[in-house]
Amino acid sequence: MEERKEKRIIMFPLPFPGHFNPLVQLARIFHHRGFSITIIHTSFNFPDPTHYPNFTFRTIHHHNEGEEEEDPLSKPGASGMDLVTFIRQLREGYANPFRESLKAEVGGGERACCLVSDVVWGRTTEVAAEEVGIRRMVLTTSGVASFCAFAAYPFLRDKHYLPIQDSRLDELVTELPPLRVKDLPVMETNEPEELYRVVNNMVEGAKSSSGIIWNTFEDLERIVLMNFSTEFQVPVFPVGPFYKHSENILPTTKNKEDHVTTDWLNKQDPRTVVYVSFGSLADIEEKEFLEIAWGLRNTKQPFLWVVRPGMVQGTEWLESLPCGFLENIGQKGKIVKWVNQLEVLAHPAVGAFWTHCGWNSTLESICEGVPMICTPCFTDQRVNARYIVDVWQLGMMLERSKLDRKDIEKLLRKEMGEEMRESCLKWKDRANVCLSKDGSSSKYLEKLVSHVMSFDSYAFAS
Ligand code: UDX
Repeated sequence: MEERKEKRIIMFPLPFPGHFNPLVQLARIFHHRGFSITIIHTSFNFPDPTHYPNFTFRTIHHHNEGEEEEDPLSKPGASGMDLVTFIRQLREGYANPFRESLKAEVGGGERACCLVSDVVWGRTTEVAAEEVGIRRMVLTTSGVASFCAFAAYPFLRDKHYLPIQDSRLDELVTELPPLRVKDLPVMETNEPEELYRVVNNMVEGAKSSSGIIWNTFEDLERIVLMNFSTEFQVPVFPVGPFYKHSENILPTTKNKEDHVTTDWLNKQDPRTVVYVSFGSLADIEEKEFLEIAWGLRNTKQPFLWVVRPGMVQGTEWLESLPCGFLENIGQKGKIVKWVNQLEVLAHPAVGAFWTHCGWNSTLESICEGVPMICTPCFTDQRVNARYIVDVWQLGMMLERSKLDRKDIEKLLRKEMGEEMRESCLKWKDRANVCLSKDGSSSKYLEKLVSHVMSFDSYAFAS
């Protein structure tokens, strides 16, 4: 039977918001270009499919599920697990179920152009894709600069930059400027060797793929993109920022809490509010939480602070705040469990974003022209923060190791300065230019669509 090309893409996200959100944004872009989308998702953190009516979802179950009745990663207490251990368990527990699911999707004669899997799955997806004869592309939800730092791990170990020694924290890594030793993308873990394995696997999985789709734009990371392409022979498609491609492909769902937050923001003066959020994964110690709380309380600025339940180690939500603290803040500050961040950053009342510098938050802040206060917690966030402060000049550093209520108050009182505001407007503009009809992201998107359609490895009916 003659092969008939079907515009269908199978996607496999890592099940965390910072990874799932950009994958869905990319899926919307593909869908807008006429592709149908199947998303294979772990039972852990399985999304509500009714929010994504244009996509088909398939669930895969952790291989221990059934024996234990419940996904071991969803058990109470699992969220406090070392992130490296967590990722190891994800990969071990879902590798075979994914393989079976992919086989069911394309092994029986159904067609698909390619698989797009999150880069962190690494080589987990490689064998499965080869087995069923489907081409595999990877989605990298972090920036190029941090990926290059990950790719340099073997070298960084050889040169004894890793593991990090406290005595060398401020030393410049001459081979990876402007990074200093303290900016290298590592994280605290009980399994340091496993971290090296995860990173190595991720880099190798990207190198052996049919292309890397990047949620970044060329202007922002031109030099590192060039360096990457000199070193690695993989086609790259920096088509980001995904969420900005077209207003009409954005979700519009709003809940009651969003309305309350918007009402509060509407009452604030332009560019006065400090928006504080550390993303969807980072947690902080109770001591740090209290320093932040007092720092915010003592400054004059109004603030909107996202404290996820469970984000403060050993507590459920806000119970460690001193009695009367919230009443004392009154209307000056608002603490919420989650916000629609895109909407918050686009609000005229927001003057600064105190962020952990996750890549999505970084891009969103750049696109909305909001200057940042950078408190990176782990991995790529440390690289992003250094670029925000030293290269793009879009923010100020407030190191996590130096979180102290007086320093916080001082920094928040500081004017961001005209120069930084100009920088923010400049980069916001550049992002828009990249996304315009003849801009680099639009051109790369054309290339990406042709690339995907050119694959000759479609599974087809026999
Ligand atoms: C993680 C890593 O930290 C990040 O660097 C990596 O690139 C992706 O995985 P996370 O820590 O969650 O992600 O941070 P970030 O990348 O900033 O993603 C958080 C996402 O959640 C953003 O898109 C943000 O808009 C959204 N968010 C966060 C909300 O919508 N509401 C909130 O209250 C907080």
